[in-house]
Amino acid sequence: MQISSNVLDLPSFNFYKMKVFNTREEVLTFINDAKKKSKTIGYVPTMGALHQGHASLIKQSISQNSITFVSVFVNPTQFDNASDLDKYPRTLENDIELIKQIDSNIIIFAPTSKELYQGNITSKNYSFDGLEHEMEGKHRAGHFDGVGTVLDLFFTLIKPTIAYFGEKDFQQLQIVKKLVSKYKLGVNIIGCEIFREASGLAMSSRNKRLSPSARKEAAFINKTLLEAKKQFGTKSAIKVEEWVTKQFAKNKQFKLEYVSIANIKTLKPVKRKSKKQQYRIFIAAFIDNIRLIDNIALN
Ligand code: PAJ
Repeated sequence: MQISSNVLDLPSFNFYKMKVFNTREEVLTFINDAKKKSKTIGYVPTMGALHQGHASLIKQSISQNSITFVSVFVNPTQFDNASDLDKYPRTLENDIELIKQIDSNIIIFAPTSKELYQGNITSKNYSFDGLEHEMEGKHRAGHFDGVGTVLDLFFTLIKPTIAYFGEKDFQQLQIVKKLVSKYKLGVNIIGCEIFREASGLAMSSRNKRLSPSARKEAAFINKTLLEAKKQFGTKSAIKVEEWVTKQFAKNKQFKLEYVSIANIKTLKPVKRKSKKQQYRIFIAAFIDNIRLIDNIALN
């Protein structure tokens, strides 16, 4: 077991047992003490059902901070669909085990909704300068207000030095950067590469709900993105999007929700390519009624 001494000297740290906080009060006491000791705090927000994608963020935080916090919280305000919220996997015991395997000094914060929101489980309204109206924003009403609200609560409480987010949810990553700069939350945001299964399928908590055959077929998303990237070298964005749409139409197991080739800063669809701009291709698609998203850099 690897022990970092900088965590051991904090009073509330228990050597033998993972620290799992459930209340805001416990977090506040711990953080105030850590701040007095000038510890740097790395933070990885998650909704649990942890996998190696989450683990890669946690490992990066450990390598760059004296303390790492991981929150495990299925945030009700970011779901626009009650059944999706209901079906979201909740596996706290396994999550604690997975985190313990990485490093037993990590602090887990797993509050109830009532505790975190202090009884008022509603979203605030944010403006992310238009980023919230593209892609996911068009298909998941109120989603980014919910994400902004919960992260605002967590950042204010944990006061992290750095928070880590995956490029898997690239739009979320850009929106969190905007949230922090626009609302002056004083947190550094680091984006981390997408962690994939051997088949190329982006790891996701939702993959747990796929049947074995759907999971195999789901690699089709990444394969199509990689082929689209090749085509983007010589074809227009519209032509490549049309080609992707056709591939999904031919695949009877999938229902494509959107494909978009967008500028990474504005997230707006590309009208005319410019060598000076950076682009990514984004996809959301259903298989077995499970919604999967993925994206890759094009240049
Ligand atoms: P969740 O889906 O649990 O993801 C938590 C973090 O892990 C996000 O930053 C996400 O982008 C990252 N992640 C997920 N799969 C990944 C993969 N395959 N490779 C790299 N990173 C990956 O995103 C959320 O939770 C929530 O919206 C949250 C930010 C916690 C707010 O409730």
